[in-house]
Amino acid sequence: MGKILAGKTSDLPPGKMLLVESGGKTILVANENGNYFAMDDTCTHQGASLSEGTMEGSTVTCPWHGSTWDCKTGKLIAFASQLKDLASYKVIVESDSIYVET
Ligand code: FES
Repeated sequence: MGKILAGKTSDLPPGKMLLVESGGKTILVANENGNYFAMDDTCTHQGASLSEGTMEGSTVTCPWHGSTWDCKTGKLIAFASQLKDLASYKVIVESDSIYVET
């Protein structure tokens, strides 16, 4: 298990997402109303980068075919077919730095 520095809290205002790459993983970090969440960035449908999609509340919408995901849990909310859920990760804020535990 490792701890990745995702950025500063000032880099990630509420309603925004950012992408962190570390050790071959791509992880989406989201600020949902002042709370930080992290899950895999790669859509399990055809591999779009979810951080390039849109976010409303805790719902992240895939930019390619519109699947929706809960950034709090990594679970699929809706799509035309069942997709594998995404891994989600614990986020820790220390002072003004955001870390993801992988
Ligand atoms: S790649 Fe995300 S819904 Fe198709």
